[in-house]
Amino acid sequence: MALQTASSPDGLEGVVAAHTVLSEVDGAAGRLIIRGRSLDDLAAGVPFEALVGLLFDGFFDDLPADLAPALGRARAEVFAEVAHLDPALAAHEPVVAVRALMARLADGDDLATALRLVAAPAVFTPAVVRAQAGKAPVAPDPALGHAADILRMLHGTPATKEAVAGLDTYLVTVSDHGLNASTFAARVVASTRAGLTSAALAGLGALKGPLHGGAPGPVIEMLDEIGAPENARAWIEAALARKERLMGFGHRIYRVRDPRADALKGPVRALAAAKGGGRVAFAEAVEQAALDILKAHKPDRPLDTNVEFYTALLLEALAFPPSAFTCVFAMGRVAGWMAHAREQLAGGRLIRPQSVYVGPLPLQAA
Ligand code: COA
Repeated sequence: MALQTASSPDGLEGVVAAHTVLSEVDGAAGRLIIRGRSLDDLAAGVPFEALVGLLFDGFFDDLPADLAPALGRARAEVFAEVAHLDPALAAHEPVVAVRALMARLADGDDLATALRLVAAPAVFTPAVVRAQAGKAPVAPDPALGHAADILRMLHGTPATKEAVAGLDTYLVTVSDHGLNASTFAARVVASTRAGLTSAALAGLGALKGPLHGGAPGPVIEMLDEIGAPENARAWIEAALARKERLMGFGHRIYRVRDPRADALKGPVRALAAAKGGGRVAFAEAVEQAALDILKAHKPDRPLDTNVEFYTALLLEALAFPPSAFTCVFAMGRVAGWMAHAREQLAGGRLIRPQSVYVGPLPLQAA
């Protein structure tokens, strides 16, 4: 017997499950607002530490005006967990290893716990990437900015100003995005009062999937396989004929271009220019081919470029391995998870929706 599994509405599309002061995704206008400021404004020059302060404002009584020193100390604190990164754990894909290290952190609801969780993917990801390359971890420098320290922990040398600015813009750009799947997962867990670590782990578990934060790694695979602009059309048409989805395109909410894609385009170009080229022109040719073909393929469903396409190019230019891209996404989004978890705790009841039973009934007694 085939199981009837469709829920109504499918995928909870259009369902309002929270009221939030944190962010608004306007899918028709292609606009993202975070705490009353547009993404364009934030991405143009607000450092990640300040963005975390903006997201946390009003949710912690003891929030300092400048979060940078406390976040630096949190990086140093969580680095102690890297001692538990044994070869068996390091053999897993980075997001699994990072998830395991994060799971070692104590649960709690206070600012110190939230900052340790913001620090965790930033510290654990470079350590896991280095371990996989046979290199020793680099300890955090609490005096550095968050983005600069992540790149130094990854490469072992100070990063260029273009690289620091690029990562900072990325972390701000992906820090919060309405009730996306991972944020919803984090809010559900927070609503049970399990604690911020449990909420962050739920978020990371949801983020890992290829329909959410797992997309940018496959974007690189797609670009590698296409190889040259003249191969783009044939490759894309063959993928769609196999009923595959093009990674980096389409969105549940946006019916126009994802504004985050444009926020990342500037840093991608700046990094490419600093390195004497890169493959931005090639990627733009692939993007255009994909948009043309998707339009013909699904005329009734606007499918435009999403954040993951330019994320892939940016993180490649910063020399993160594609296997770790989801972890870098988590470095930014964890700030949103923490703010949403605290907002849920402050006002929300237990999240416990209903289901409609469509299975068989017990046999009637004869
Ligand atoms: N490539 C090809 N077709 C796509 C597509 C893509 N990237 N995204 C959606 N579609 C198609 C679906 O196959 C579906 O067609 P069907 O009705 O014939 O089955 C139709 O468009 C509607 O898709 P649906 O699954 O209802 O959209 P959704 O709102 O549930 O999904 C995403 C949104 C993001 C999961 C989806 O667009 C996707 O899988 N994108 C690729 C992964 C990605 O880039 N994720 C990162 C998001 S930021």
